[in-house]
Amino acid sequence: MRLGIFGTGYAGLVTSVGLAQLGHTVTAIDKNPDIIARLSDGVPTIHEPGLKELLTSNLDAGRLSFTTKAADAMGESQIVFVCVGTPPRADGRADLSQVEEVACTIAPMLDGYKLIVEKSTVPARTAYWIDSTIRRLAGPEREFDIASNPEFLREGTAVRDFLHPDRIVIGADSGRARSLLLDLYQSSFSCPIIVTSVTTAELIKQAANAFLATKISFINMVSDVCEKLDVDVAAVAKGIGLDPRIGGDFLRAGLGFGGSCLPKDVSALIKVAEHSGVDVGMLKEVERINTARIDRLLAKIERALWVLPNKVIGVLGVAFKSDTDDIRGAPSLGVIPRLHSMGARLHVYDPAAVRNFERLYPPNDRLTYVASVYDAAREADALVILTDWDEFRSLDFGRIRDAMHTPIVVDGRNLFEPPLMQAAGFEYYSLGRGDATLHQKPFRERV
Ligand code: UDX
Repeated sequence: MRLGIFGTGYAGLVTSVGLAQLGHTVTAIDKNPDIIARLSDGVPTIHEPGLKELLTSNLDAGRLSFTTKAADAMGESQIVFVCVGTPPRADGRADLSQVEEVACTIAPMLDGYKLIVEKSTVPARTAYWIDSTIRRLAGPEREFDIASNPEFLREGTAVRDFLHPDRIVIGADSGRARSLLLDLYQSSFSCPIIVTSVTTAELIKQAANAFLATKISFINMVSDVCEKLDVDVAAVAKGIGLDPRIGGDFLRAGLGFGGSCLPKDVSALIKVAEHSGVDVGMLKEVERINTARIDRLLAKIERALWVLPNKVIGVLGVAFKSDTDDIRGAPSLGVIPRLHSMGARLHVYDPAAVRNFERLYPPNDRLTYVASVYDAAREADALVILTDWDEFRSLDFGRIRDAMHTPIVVDGRNLFEPPLMQAAGFEYYSLGRGDATLHQKPFRERV
């Protein structure tokens, strides 16, 4: 099939490359000429494992092209995917201005039946607005359908998630739209394909992300109880996760959910529900627990260091999760400015995301970006871990301990076993596993 993709961000670029990899002819459009130039040269504009290889091979095969001209993406495309950003507004609702802009761009270009498909995560009922916008601008005689085909891509594993989905959701309200999307996917994937109404598909996506966020806030709530009982939340998570009704995924306690999706989708679902007159106080509690994680970590850092002004702190990780350069919604955006305002001297390291973070927080006399963990540890009074990069799990702790001024580690991602860190000579703080000092006292003194 010939396919058009509006938007070449995290979802749009992976969707473009993935659909081309399936053998379709894909034209992707973005308003930013610099992005289009780089992608046309085979240079990825995001850090995503496996993306560069597929981008270059599909460009070379002539199945994939990038343009700034919407007409190129519309052209002979039978299906046009809307993959533009839907960031949160200040009031928590999704900002759909980019979606509306695409609808207004498409309307005058309709010259025969087109299937316009929401791929971006949008609030339920968005398809109605796209449809009415296009109908108003294109005239009632134009033939088109709006469908919903939400993406379930995780940053850091998006290419794998696209090529090996655990389900495909098709929201379509016409037989023609349904069969076009079934034709697109049925021959390529053996996973379950769920066909629903458009609004149902929109809500499936939002509810999925809201549930994942709820699971994370649940284990972080349990983590706070574990702190008080000197119990390791990781052991509790393992014990409950073995129940197949619960499942072990998304039970890692730590700094909570960040990124450009979960926070936004929780707040957007709250707004959709409230607009429909449904009280979703539970989701507000999910947000509250999540927001509080930053304060929990800062309290640990103050407990470890007491006085912060002029203390040297090595910060490991600014990305919102491992294997991405994305800092949107990252804990680092809360922790680093707070530590800086409290007078600490920060040496910050991240394997991929420093460039994006530095744009927001340029270096200064108390904020430097360093090239390695060991540079961040040099003369540090403490190391603070904010991202669960695999690189941080296999460090030379003897070298780190010898480089630090005081061997203190405050681990927001619970990467290590407390007894092992104590044995390596560190004062180790993490979330939900009792404090470093607790592990040094015999049981009878802990009560
Ligand atoms: C998420 C959904 O997983 C994906 O299906 C959807 O399409 C987009 O949003 P993403 O935001 O890329 O994907 O990353 P994800 O792996 O879900 O992690 C989200 C956040 O939760 C990260 O900040 C991560 O650190 C945190 N997290 C994840 C936890 O704190 N604990 C966990 O156990 C898992």
